[in-house]
Amino acid sequence: MQNKMPVKVLEFLFDALTDQSPRSRTVGRTRGAIELSQAILGKGWAYISQLEDLLLETDHRARRIDIEAFTTYFELPIRSVFQKPRFVTAGAAGFRALSAMDAAALLVHLDDIGFNTDPMLLIEGLLPTLASATHVTGSEWTVLAYQRLQQKTQTTIRADAIDKDGEWTSSKLKDSSGRRLEFTRVGVQPFQLQVSGSKYLKPRHEFVTCEYCGYEYTKGDPEAALTHRAEHARVRQCIDPTRLKQLQDRLLAVAEPELVIGSSPIWMHRQIYERAFRFKREMQFDFTQWEGSARHKNTCPESQAYLFADHTAACGSGAIVGACAFWKDETRWRLRWVWVCPKMRRAGVLARRWPQFLTRYGDFELDLPLSEAMATFIAKYGSDWQKNSIKGLKADE
Ligand SMILES: CC(C)(COP(=O)(O)OP(=O)(O)OC[C@H]1O[C@@H](n2cnc3c(N)ncnc32)[C@H](O)[C@@H]1OP(=O)(O)O)[C@@H](O)C(=O)NCCC(=O)NCCS
Ligand SMILES: [Zn+2]
Repeated sequence: MQNKMPVKVLEFLFDALTDQSPRSRTVGRTRGAIELSQAILGKGWAYISQLEDLLLETDHRARRIDIEAFTTYFELPIRSVFQKPRFVTAGAAGFRALSAMDAAALLVHLDDIGFNTDPMLLIEGLLPTLASATHVTGSEWTVLAYQRLQQKTQTTIRADAIDKDGEWTSSKLKDSSGRRLEFTRVGVQPFQLQVSGSKYLKPRHEFVTCEYCGYEYTKGDPEAALTHRAEHARVRQCIDPTRLKQLQDRLLAVAEPELVIGSSPIWMHRQIYERAFRFKREMQFDFTQWEGSARHKNTCPESQAYLFADHTAACGSGAIVGACAFWKDETRWRLRWVWVCPKMRRAGVLARRWPQFLTRYGDFELDLPLSEAMATFIAKYGSDWQKNSIKGLKADE
């Protein structure tokens, strides 16, 4: 939960919950608690004053509790509730109240953080009303799950302000029901309360890395599994490219079918972006050297890029086996990056384009650092000027 608690309410919690004297708690159900719960269930609403009384019946430490601060924090709506008038035109005095369901949820939340609230008093009466529900509110869910989750949750409440220069200190205690409470202060101000039930088990975050696409995710997390699937498919397009109809058509119809500039279609820009990203990943650079994104073209006039269409039968005609990008500095062009999919390396993909690049861009510079493969490539295919310019440079420097 992203909500924050006012510092003074957290101070109250620190005070109340560190009081572990036996007299603070009532053992067993009192008559008062039973009667109040029945009254709440009877009308379906819990007046705030009734809730205060009910809390005091089970835990004396709740005597200074600011209920409205907790309803705000746990997002439980307080409503004005009226006794139904005999004549609708008559005036009536309203009471501030929570629905019985929200009141039960509040008792569960307070129980979770260490108050002795006995939520079952209300829950027993509410469960039958949920038996045939197909949809539930957050509070109804809390009520349904209470018995299964009792003592198994962890709640963390943070203050809405922090003393930036203060020192962090924390103290811990275990209450009589086995809950573990941790109070953290920054400076003199309370900052965080964390309460773990006696049966709370830390979720084991088992990280796995997909060897194919490099995506790291938490095992068993369905959300992460979906994101991984999308990422995996994206990466596969680059690493194991297959025939792409759009590029295949272009190879037959356009003079410079592989060139990507501002006027080229967006799909070409997207394909360049994906490969700029793969290059960044593989070389472990911090930035993607491409001014476009998956949605936006790179329209910088200084930029010219190329998609490499497969010239062999390995991936199929129109398959994109690599890409590169050039940038024009003041007067000279520069090769910013070049990436060929691993299975098509050493197959002459770059070599067969190099003479054409030299014709178009002259003695273009090379962005450093050079990979070992690239340094060997230049030694063999670079112009004399390029060979000279990398002399003395060790690979990856
Ligand atoms: C560097 C890279 C772009 C080369 O593209 P390529 O299409 O595989 O290169 P080519 O097949 O045209 O290679 C031509 C020559 O370059 C040299 N070369 C290329 N890769 C090499 C490697 N891994 N090790 C040694 N020499 C290599 C060889 O002399 C090769 O000729 P040969 O295969 O007949 O021996 C490609 O390996 C790649 O994408 N690597 C990962 C990204 C990268 O390093 N980019 C350059 C950053 S500066
Ligand atoms: Zn994957």
